[in-house]
This record gives sequence, structure tokens and C-alpha cells, in this order.
Amino acid sequence: MNDLEQYFYDNTGRLIHKWRHYFEIYDRHFARFRGTAVTLVEIGVFHGGSLQMWKHYFGPAATIVGVDIDPACKSMEEEQIKILIGDQADRNFLRTLAQTLPRIDIVLDDGGHFMQQQITTFEELFPRIDPNGVYLCEDLHTSYWKRYGGGYRKSAASSNTART
Ligand SMILES: C[S@@+](CC[C@H](N)C(=O)[O-])C[C@H]1O[C@@H](n2cnc3c(N)ncnc32)[C@H](O)[C@@H]1O
Repeated sequence: MNDLEQYFYDNTGRLIHKWRHYFEIYDRHFARFRGTAVTLVEIGVFHGGSLQMWKHYFGPAATIVGVDIDPACKSMEEEQIKILIGDQADRNFLRTLAQTLPRIDIVLDDGGHFMQQQITTFEELFPRIDPNGVYLCEDLHTSYWKRYGGGYRKSAASSNTART
């Protein structure tokens, strides 16, 4: 069990909403940023538990930025954790976000999971990531779910899958 999974199972703080099998993938791609002044942007704050997990995992030099459409999420701000309120499908909001942050090393899309949200966020934020950074989009099973705008072999959904 890696440190992230251990943290998840030991967590008694804010709720974390992750699939268990993601922890190995996160650690594989994120471990090299531990102990550095990494900036991670996570779309989708919910209860804020994942932001606290990233803060613990990356260490005291990290900057963790949470983005959510729900204004109540602003209350999850704390040292090293900044929360921006906005819609991940709003290009102007994303452009302002990217201009505000000096550098983005990691983008983690765990927001609304609708095709158009994922595609818009990718189109706006992928080009803004540091060349050595990582873009990770969670829960791509919604690419096959009609109510999320997805569908098997549907062109808009499959282009979404291909990009992420
Ligand atoms: C699955 S939860 C996030 C869970 C959190 N990342 C975690 O791991 O504990 C999804 C969040 O995305 C937010 N969300 C939904 N649509 C959004 C949008 N269009 N823009 C930004 N955030 C959105 C919801 O308000 C909700 O808090």
C-alpha cells in the first residue's frame, strides 16, 4: 500500500472521494513532485479531503489549488490550499485561473465529469501546464454514459477519451 492509499484509509478528517485503484496511478505519476514546490490544480473540491491529502503527500512547499462551482467550497481554504470558485466549462474563468498561477505542474480533473466540461478544461489548461507536468482526468467511464454526454463510439465522447 503506498502513502496515498495509507492516508486514505487512515483519514478521519474531511471526506475524500476516490476510487481505491487510482492511488497506484497517482503515485506512479506524482511521486517525482514530492518535496518540491509543486502546484497542483484539482477541479472538484466537494468536501475538501482530497486537497488535504495532496498537501500531506507533496509536503510543505506545495501549493494546492481547488476549483469548484459550489461557493460553499471556499470554506475549505487553509494554509497551502487555495480555492477558486467557477465553472470548469467557462473558458474565461479557466484563462483567468491560468494567468493567476505562476506555474501549473499538475491538473487533476475530478469535477462534473460531463464531456463538454472535460473537453473544455483540457483544451484550456493542458497548454498551460509545465512541459514536465502531468494532466490527469478521472472517471472517464462517463465517456460511455449517455446522461454525461457520452456513449459508446460517440464522436464527441471518443474524442474526449482520445485526448485524456
Ligand atoms: C466527485 S466531487 C470531487 C471530489 C474530490 N475531488 C475528492 O476527491 O474528494 C465533484 C465536484 O465537482 C464539482 N463540480 C461539478 N460541476 C462542476 C463544474 N462545472 N465546474 C467546477 N466544479 C464542478 C462539484 O460541485 C463537486 O464538488
